[in-house]
Amino acid sequence: MKSVVVNGLTKDFSGVTVLKNIDLDIQAGEFFALLGPSGCGKTTTMRCIAGFEEPTNGVIKIGDEVVNELSPNERNCGMVFQSYALFPHMNVFDNVAYSLNIQDLKKSNMFKKLGVYTRMLNSKLVKYSDDIKKRTMDALDYVELTEHADKMVNELSGGQQQRVALARALVMEPKVLLMDEPLSNLDQKLRHSMRNTIRRIQQDLKITTIFVTHDQEEAMSMADRVAVMKDGEILQVGTPTDLYSNPKSPFIADFVGTSNILPGVIKKREGSIAYVEVGDQVIKSESTIESNEVKIIIRPENIILLDEASQTYDNYFEGKIDLATYLGSTVRYEIIVDQHRLIADTVYESGDSILRNGTTVKLGISPERVLLI
Ligand SMILES: Nc1ncnc2c1ncn2[C@@H]1O[C@H](COP(=O)(O)OP(=O)(O)OP(=O)(O)O)[C@@H](O)[C@H]1O
Ligand SMILES: [Mg+2]
Repeated sequence: MKSVVVNGLTKDFSGVTVLKNIDLDIQAGEFFALLGPSGCGKTTTMRCIAGFEEPTNGVIKIGDEVVNELSPNERNCGMVFQSYALFPHMNVFDNVAYSLNIQDLKKSNMFKKLGVYTRMLNSKLVKYSDDIKKRTMDALDYVELTEHADKMVNELSGGQQQRVALARALVMEPKVLLMDEPLSNLDQKLRHSMRNTIRRIQQDLKITTIFVTHDQEEAMSMADRVAVMKDGEILQVGTPTDLYSNPKSPFIADFVGTSNILPGVIKKREGSIAYVEVGDQVIKSESTIESNEVKIIIRPENIILLDEASQTYDNYFEGKIDLATYLGSTVRYEIIVDQHRLIADTVYESGDSILRNGTTVKLGISPERVLLI
């Protein structure tokens, strides 16, 4: 079942086109990440879906309904922002219950009294219905903040505040959860634990989620599928493994993980093997690409440092270690082969020695691990 469909979305700001014909097709229950560098149009896409921005062109559907003419609150999207956007003068419970109470007030035609309501809330005169109390406490339970319900939000850590923001979005039982860089204000450790929290809740509730980030590791570790954006366009959509192993352009190969990217020219083809000239070297690649001018993409973990005995690789080179970086479970080597600098990742096991700069090494790369684009 489709949950969010975007067709031909274009957005101009004062004559400048910042979204160029965006198409998205997000399944119900899917965790979908929009990934791209700063300024590529992620937030604008999100704001168009949520209804805060009017598209210049294009159709947006949520479920089976075209929502272009609907106001944000009629679209039933839950939003979580980078900046939390909580009410600092309210406690945790009130922040989460706020929208539910507003919804109730609207139903009972008390919309005009909302100003009064907010003043009442400030002075603690608001009485919540049992239903709202239960739904609010359930949402707080989901994000493990039950015991903090009575605290003011400015008494919470950044991670806790972001969980309040998440609870506030979830409590409305939105059709779609939209999260715009929700973790970028948190330190690295907290970011990792919040990733797990968000993923667990998303899977429990099976809520369709669009998650905006410029952090490829975040997108790749959390999402079912990722759309990579650049300059207002979607370059490729795929599962994390798909994007990693079959990037359609050097930009994606570089943006999604680390890549060795070398320009080459195919000089010969034999069956499924292409012989690609790179400077003075020839690299064999299992590839059926048609053009002769290619970019060679090799992931660092696919460059194998060989010991003296094993020289069975179809692609075999010699190089000199220029830099070794110990990363805990791996060692990253920068190796000079002719005039090229290659990055190779090797698994580090305790007791292994790390090769010194200047050491001559032999490298092996399987032709099926050499991608041509
Ligand atoms: N209200 C606006 N008026 C004019 N230009 C805007 C407006 N909002 C966004 N833009 C421009 O549109 C482009 C895309 O902005 P957007 O905020 O969508 O990028 P982003 O991918 O979310 O970037 P970041 O990762 O920095 O948040 C940028 O060039 C930005 O300057
Ligand atoms: Mg943004």
